[in-house]
This record gives sequence, C-alpha cells and structure tokens, in this order.
Amino acid sequence: MTGTGRFDQAAATWDLSDRRVQLARAVAEAISSRLSLSRAWSVLDFGCGTGLLTLALARNVGSITGADTSSGMLKTLAGKAEAQGITVGLQALDVTGTGNLGGPYHLIVSCMTLHHIADVPDLFRQFLRHLHPGGGVALADLDQEDGSFHEEASGVQHKGFAREQVKIWLEDAGFQEVRIETATTTHKGGRDYPVFLATAARDQA
Ligand SMILES: C[S@@+](CC[C@H](N)C(=O)[O-])C[C@H]1O[C@@H](n2cnc3c(N)ncnc32)[C@H](O)[C@@H]1O
Repeated sequence: MTGTGRFDQAAATWDLSDRRVQLARAVAEAISSRLSLSRAWSVLDFGCGTGLLTLALARNVGSITGADTSSGMLKTLAGKAEAQGITVGLQALDVTGTGNLGGPYHLIVSCMTLHHIADVPDLFRQFLRHLHPGGGVALADLDQEDGSFHEEASGVQHKGFAREQVKIWLEDAGFQEVRIETATTTHKGGRDYPVFLATAARDQA
C-alpha cells in the first residue's frame, strides 16, 4: 500500500490512539510555551492528519490551515472541526510535490510528518518561501531511532533525525535563531522515543 493509502485507511481510527492524542497535545503545549502565539497569525499545519495539533492550536491563533496528502485525513479533520465549531482551512497536497502550500503564513507547524518526507532540506526551503518576513516554524518529530518505531514502514523516509542535522538543514535553508529542544517522549512497544521541537525564524527583510 502507498503511504497515502495507508493514511487514508487509518484516518477514521487515528484518534483512538491515546499515545497519538497525548503526543500532539504535548507538542501543542511545547509550541505554546516556546512561542507567544497571536490571534493575528495565520498558521499552516503541514501533514496535519486528523488535526490533533491543528485543533489544539486553532483557538489561540487567527486562522489555521491543515495541509496533507491524504484526503481521508483531511475529511476526518473537516468533520471534527465542524463538530467543534472551529473554522479550519484545508489544503490537499499533491504527493508529487508541496508547491501548493498556500500562504504566506506567520507560522508553519508540523507534528510527526517530517520523517515521511524524502527531501527535508527542500521542504525547509519551501517553508521559508511560504512565510511572511519575520515568520517562523515549529516542527516536531522523532529523534534518531533504530527503525523500531514503525511496524508499518511504507512511506517512512527517515528513522527520526539527528538534531544537529535538522539545525544544519534549517540554517542552510535560510532560517535564523534555530532552537531544538525535547518537546516530549512518546512510549510505544515498551520503549521510549524522544520527540524534538525545532523552532526557527525567517528574517524580517
Ligand atoms: C504520522 S502522521 C501525523 C499526523 C498528525 N500531524 C498527527 O500528529 O497526528 C503523518 C501525516 O503526514 C501526512 N503526509 C505524508 N506524506 C506527506 C507529504 N509528502 N506531504 C504532506 N503530508 C504528508 C500523512 O498523510 C499523515 O497525515
């Protein structure tokens, strides 16, 4: 099954996992304590899935858009947003590229999606182009692991990341003020997997 097909199939039951719900909540808390979120900001959640992070941040920002390659995930997010009375923008992404991210945004967030992206340096360059001057990113994903995190590896491009590598990619893309800290630790199959939060800013020019 393709990565997208796998996520389409998983969308309806994705939120039944307490681990995923708690992970996204912890990432939302880490973002909120790292950044002073503003009701004036437009935000993109890249690889939003069912919107666990999107909806956790929505009431603290001006507008938020969930972008994903899985139509099943976007459909589930749309239903949840309507049920909660929250307005969310939806952006369907083409699997062959991410050129239709929309924006510009004040902030781009992401939770557990970077490891599905083959060319992360290119993605970071695209993020920079879709930000307002002075905007920023807040990106959460697994620290480097041994491959044991995913039982189903289709669509998995990276076994987590070395933080130093993420910092270099962000700086090479043109980001400044890169900070990478532990957002939370997720527990799966009796093991602990630390999750980092990388924040960085586009310059004001
Ligand atoms: C592990 S899930 C995380 C979902 C959500 N952020 C969360 O924390 O629950 C990864 C998400 O990335 C999406 N995805 C995979 N490849 C993608 C790509 N190239 N561009 C955008 N989204 C992608 C999947 O459809 C899926 O919804």
